[in-house]
Amino acid sequence: MKPIILTIVGFLLAIPPWTVGQEPPTADPRVDKAGRPNAGGEERAGKFEKKYPSDAAYPELELSRIAFGSCYRPGSRLRKGDPWDVWKVIKAIEPQVMLLLGDNHYADSQTPERIERGYRGLEADRPYMDFREEIPTFAVWDNHDYASKYPGKDFKYAARSEQLFLEHFRVPESDPRQSRVGVYGSWIFGEHPNRVQIIMLDGHRHRDQLPGKNGNFRSDPDPGKTFLGPEQWKWLEKQLAREAEMRVIGSPIQVLSKEHRWRRWDMFPKQRERLLDLVGEASGTTVFLSGDRHRGEISRLATEGRKPVCDVTASGYFHVREAEERNSLRVGKLINQPHFGALEVDWESRTVAMKVLCSREGTVLVEHEESILP
Ligand SMILES: [Fe+2]
Repeated sequence: MKPIILTIVGFLLAIPPWTVGQEPPTADPRVDKAGRPNAGGEERAGKFEKKYPSDAAYPELELSRIAFGSCYRPGSRLRKGDPWDVWKVIKAIEPQVMLLLGDNHYADSQTPERIERGYRGLEADRPYMDFREEIPTFAVWDNHDYASKYPGKDFKYAARSEQLFLEHFRVPESDPRQSRVGVYGSWIFGEHPNRVQIIMLDGHRHRDQLPGKNGNFRSDPDPGKTFLGPEQWKWLEKQLAREAEMRVIGSPIQVLSKEHRWRRWDMFPKQRERLLDLVGEASGTTVFLSGDRHRGEISRLATEGRKPVCDVTASGYFHVREAEERNSLRVGKLINQPHFGALEVDWESRTVAMKVLCSREGTVLVEHEESILP
């Protein structure tokens, strides 16, 4: 009997598990058997990584539709209660580029192995990767993907975290981001008088310790405290001196809203003033885009003698906070349902429409329009 039993056991062991009710594994050339990004994955990289190295101009591409968002958990669309494919919804508005404002995954760890696992989760997330391959994508990080909690320039594994970021976003060797500290970048699209400059700021790699604790961050008036660090500031000044009619500046945290106790540029008010001074002196109309808050809103600041600036917060494709919050700069309502953001530029009428859209239906939840000023 023994040989027969062994034969049956051997046969059962040889049956692949997916034949008894599980999904078959897909042969995904982007990841190896352990789920690590394949070295050859670059061949399947998004168009942006190949065509748009940072700190350069691309006059051949005139931008009029930009999508953006933050706070993504790889695979979360498959969990109970999150059954929809957000990338399909975003793709339906036909964005020319996508901006990821941080919390691009939630490794939430200060160990390099776990951060790497976070990126592996993204690499294995087929709808996300398919989107990336089709829509040029530009990214910065926030606290949950950079590390966890709130280390800034003192994060022990910052260099490794940065390397993993650059690998995942397929930043080419020739890109200046490969040779500097920080993941910030700048791109100018289109030709005069229809140029859009996209600037993505790194608010973590050079940042000083934050004043206070999560949910109770104070404002530290010390002019020596920095978000960007001297090198990034110098670089930003240079980028803003370049001519553009529209400037879109991505920041992981809110620039304008300052009446809450969560992270905001107002934690270092002198840094916020410096940023607003700089964009005030620059040509064109500036729109800030921000993430982090797990809510959506549009803020507008019009100071005397200065062009108005707006800050569109889009944070939470799936998960949002319910609570109301005071923000005297808000235009329209606070959005506390899952969402993403979009900018639509009408070069004929010289206007930009800022929108927060439902990430399930693609419907507009709040909208605001500004003129594009010289
Ligand atoms: Fe988040």
